[in-house]
Amino acid sequence: MPETNLSMHAAARGLRRRGVAGVLAATALAAAPFLAPRLGAHLPNLALVAAAPLKIQVHILAALTALAIGTMLMIGVKGTRLHRTLGWTWVAAMATTAVSSLFIREMNHGAMSWIHLLSGWTIVALPMAVYAARRHKVHLHRRFMTGLFVGGLLIAGGFTFLPGRLLWRVFFG
Ligand code: HEM
Repeated sequence: MPETNLSMHAAARGLRRRGVAGVLAATALAAAPFLAPRLGAHLPNLALVAAAPLKIQVHILAALTALAIGTMLMIGVKGTRLHRTLGWTWVAAMATTAVSSLFIREMNHGAMSWIHLLSGWTIVALPMAVYAARRHKVHLHRRFMTGLFVGGLLIAGGFTFLPGRLLWRVFFG
């Protein structure tokens, strides 16, 4: 296929992905006011976060920063100067999220849990993803970063709302 056709296909795929992400986000926002009271949600009890150990506060702040910047990176145009600046900030936030989590062991009586495997994987995969970008291996870079964002942040973030965990108590407890 000629090069212009390939780049048009890539642009159309990017637009489709952004459209799907936009529709999903809009649906979640529209459903939230109806679902939240049925799930027993209330205004966030931030006193619980304020009373948490510093390592957990650092972890939450870094994870939420990575979530916000990661969403912009996934939806936005790739390869620009802004993408690179936000990308480095995202890498720093993800590294802080993963390293701080190594010190959080309250949930498993002082021992590490299976979730720490994700921290190990993040610490290994982040430099590999950056290396792929610097070598212009765009496909590999995209696979690593999307895997870290979806597999790491979205799934690990989702698990933090399991009953009994801190964020579940902040919103539902
Ligand atoms: C939006 C994303 C995330 C949020 C809001 C979040 C929040 C939290 C919170 C509040 C805790 C304290 C324990 C508790 O929940 O009671 C925690 C623990 C932990 N987090 Fe995260 N986190 C996120 C993403 C991540 C990511 C990306 C990783 C790994 C790279 C990670 C790894 C861990 C680990 C290993 C623990 C300790 C769990 C255990 O001991 O079983 N988290 N997280």
